[in-house]
Amino acid sequence: MNRRRRIYEGKAKILYEGPEPGTLIQHFKDDATAFNKKKHDVIDGKGVLNNRISEHIFVHLNSIGIPTHFIRRMNMREQLIREVEIIPLEIVVRNVAAGSLSKRLGIEEGTQLPRSIIEFNYKNDDLDDPLVAEEHITAFGWASPQEIDDMMALAIRVNDFLTGLFLGIGIRLIDFKMECGRLWEGDMMRIVVADEISPDSCRLWDIESEDKLDKDRFRRDLGGLLEAYQEVARRLGIMNENERPRGSGPVLVQ
Ligand code: TMP
Repeated sequence: MNRRRRIYEGKAKILYEGPEPGTLIQHFKDDATAFNKKKHDVIDGKGVLNNRISEHIFVHLNSIGIPTHFIRRMNMREQLIREVEIIPLEIVVRNVAAGSLSKRLGIEEGTQLPRSIIEFNYKNDDLDDPLVAEEHITAFGWASPQEIDDMMALAIRVNDFLTGLFLGIGIRLIDFKMECGRLWEGDMMRIVVADEISPDSCRLWDIESEDKLDKDRFRRDLGGLLEAYQEVARRLGIMNENERPRGSGPVLVQ
């Protein structure tokens, strides 16, 4: 029995009331959904892996001065986060054509894009998270022009960081989705990176084999999702701290 107050339950995570005001606990479930729940499965251990991988990424984002909601991991499935007001947008950054961009514009998957492209989707399950323009965002008041600028600046910094992080472990970052929230500190508000960044929300291809190491394994019925996520965690050096293979992970230059 969990006696904590549940604030929100999404498709892959639950938010509980945190131990102090202004904090929440983000719990990673094993549920995998795609195409807005039309496809659903439970994959034992996925939540544990995403918790660890997302922790790894958010700790590094914090350490290079990119503000996030992340405070610390609490246990195998949970992390302590700051309570933010989620902006109802999915910010997608694309480096290589794939998925809905390839379908929409008829560009072959795997084609390097001339530059990184940022897209916004309105977070609304009933509408299947439709692609929207900045005009819609400001007209309907989902975010202000200044907030859009802040989110785009954060998205570019996160993309640069993630591209390098994954390149160092033989993985090509095709695209990813992130979410932002408004963090209030007294009268001051700033936009921070929120939610999670994990193989559920990125497209990650092995550089050599082009094998997919992300949720497309589930969306496209390729099988081996857990093994792929484990491989990402192993290469990041976060699965078995004692068995970290020398030379294969990113090296922190002091
Ligand atoms: P897309 O090609 O389906 O638009 O997806 C772009 C990226 O965003 C891909 O890395 C998967 C991620 N994504 C999510 O994390 N959640 C979603 O609901 C969708 C549609 C995409």
